[in-house]
Amino acid sequence: MASSPAAFAVLAVLVLLSGTSSAQLSTSYYSYSCPSLSSTVKGAVQSAINSEKRMGASLLRLFFHDCFVNGCDGSILLDDTSSFTGEKTAKPNSNSVRGFDVVDGIKTAVENACPGAVSCADILAIAARDSVVILGGPTWDVKLGRRDSKTASLSAANSNIPPPNSSLANLASSFSNKGLSTKDLVALSGAHTIGQARCTSFRAHIYNDSNVDPSFAQTRQSNCPSASGGSGDNNLAPLDLQTPAGFDNNYYKNLVGKKGLLHSDQELYNGGSTDSQVSSYGNSQSSFFADFAAAMIKMGDISPLTGSNGEIRKNCRKVN
Ligand code: HEM
Ligand SMILES: *[C@@H]1O[C@H](CO)[C@@H](O)[C@H](O)[C@H]1NC(C)=O
Ligand SMILES: *[C@@H]1O[C@H](CO)[C@@H](O)[C@H](O)[C@H]1NC(C)=O
Repeated sequence: MASSPAAFAVLAVLVLLSGTSSAQLSTSYYSYSCPSLSSTVKGAVQSAINSEKRMGASLLRLFFHDCFVNGCDGSILLDDTSSFTGEKTAKPNSNSVRGFDVVDGIKTAVENACPGAVSCADILAIAARDSVVILGGPTWDVKLGRRDSKTASLSAANSNIPPPNSSLANLASSFSNKGLSTKDLVALSGAHTIGQARCTSFRAHIYNDSNVDPSFAQTRQSNCPSASGGSGDNNLAPLDLQTPAGFDNNYYKNLVGKKGLLHSDQELYNGGSTDSQVSSYGNSQSSFFADFAAAMIKMGDISPLTGSNGEIRKNCRKVN
């Protein structure tokens, strides 16, 4: 059977099909070309977090905003020039995503160790994992072998990254458009157990929503004025009011207590179909950790450039 022409044809089709997905990504991709990669990245991420705890959150978010816009291809890292419009001025990114200097520093360290070998897209994937681990979260083996885009898309950044006023239905469809399930949505949203948001991202939720604990809303109002357009727009509050620099399951406990900071966070626990998953993560950090790690691997599989597509950028901010 195994040597029959029919079996060979079936095998060939399977190989071809797998070539169109992320099958080329592999956890051992750089074992020969850059054996020191993981220690180099980990050291640089550790020192960035030692300087500023929030940086772990910022690096994790960069990976999400990269992957949701035409795949995990480093597109978010490209700077605008007079003849090139990147993604940095898109509404979800502008005045909000951060960590580009840290990524440059990691890239320099990696280039010094292994010149021309490692993509910026893969550096983001490893830095996101290391950030989660350093802040107390789960670990996972990062699949590697992504190449960097030569393009970026401002319009895809604006339309594919969901805004904080999204309903549960909007969130589920944004994730489903990327091949991620509603279960993945709830698990990945647990990333909001770390990091900060600006007043402009949660103002409507603390002044105008009903699914919010009133005393929590009042506390947040003290540093987030109701009028928009002033300097208060950029005032920060922690996404997880309990442990903003610790990766744990407090995010879900907050949601059960109606203390989610963003409207989109609280949508996951608002009497709908995802309430039970939120409650179970609130009761079991280990089940959250396992599902978060699996969903991060899935997110990292979104439309990578492989083979001869894309390039290995020398400088993450510009195409070669
Ligand atoms: C489910 C849909 C999501 C929405 C609507 C959303 C929205 C937001 C918003 C509005 C902020 C604050 C930005 C600001 O005010 O400057 C934020 C921060 C953050 N997001 Fe999300 N997010 C989502 C999913 C995710 C996912 C999947 C991840 C990673 C796996 C993630 C990681 C983060 C982190 C770590 C921060 C804090 C960043 C920092 O402190 O620099 N988010 N998100
Ligand atoms: C979210 O807010 C923007 C404007 O800031 C608005 O255009 C959009 O319709 C809102 N989306 C939802 C789902 O409410
Ligand atoms: C609350 O909602 C009302 C009515 O939609 C709107 O006029 C007002 O600007 C909103 N306030 C805030 C702080 O979002």
